[in-house]
Amino acid sequence: MKGIILKNERLNDKYRLMEIESPEFAQTAKPGQFVMVKTGLQDYLADPLLRRPFGVVDVRGNTFRLLYMLVGKGTRLMTESPAGSVIEFSSSLGNGFKSVKNQNIALAAGGVGIAPLLWIAKLLKDDGCRVTLYFGGRNQEDIILADEFRPHIDKLIITTDDGSIGEKALVTAPFEKDAAGFDRVYACGPKRMLQAVSEICVKGGVPVDVSLDERMACGMGACLGCIIYVREGEETVQKRCCVEGPVFDGSKVVW
Ligand code: FES
Repeated sequence: MKGIILKNERLNDKYRLMEIESPEFAQTAKPGQFVMVKTGLQDYLADPLLRRPFGVVDVRGNTFRLLYMLVGKGTRLMTESPAGSVIEFSSSLGNGFKSVKNQNIALAAGGVGIAPLLWIAKLLKDDGCRVTLYFGGRNQEDIILADEFRPHIDKLIITTDDGSIGEKALVTAPFEKDAAGFDRVYACGPKRMLQAVSEICVKGGVPVDVSLDERMACGMGACLGCIIYVREGEETVQKRCCVEGPVFDGSKVVW
């Protein structure tokens, strides 16, 4: 699938936000899904060969947005794609988040894990939920898109490791104090954070959906490079994060 880059905006030294026009994609995407992007030249043999997964931030009319963090050659190449250029990506992938109605919801995000939570926040709010966002990062640079959440949430709690903005703490610290009062939690971020959030939820008897950011090569269920382990009854079974996730019941994941 191909789209036209409308914007490739620098948020700070670490993050960029890309807006892509693709009516075909925008009509089918769901919150919590991801796309595999061809980051280099639009040539199948150009380096980097493998596509990279990025969570869809939201869809607006015929366009969608991707948030990306500069981590290596592929994402550096993405910064060089100007408005008006063509970008190649897979169609909507993964199971995504499901909205619920009239519940007290917590969203827990760590760093770039904020990406897939904006769209579900909007849906939850429209569906009559009270929404609290717990957003943690290493420092102020990681606290991105927070202002875009404000119209769609009731409360925002920010933490950073260095205290440069919000409370100086891990995001799990304020979340743990409040967790038992929520009806459901949606989380995305580093694996250790998702594990801690899930354990807190299990202790409090709160359902938790986690979006796992596993390394992916094919994104189509073929390479088995994104296997995770999940409990099903008495058994532990393998799941492919790209096709059976990326959203899983956090209480069932073997961390
Ligand atoms: Fe290849 Fe999931 S990325 S099976």
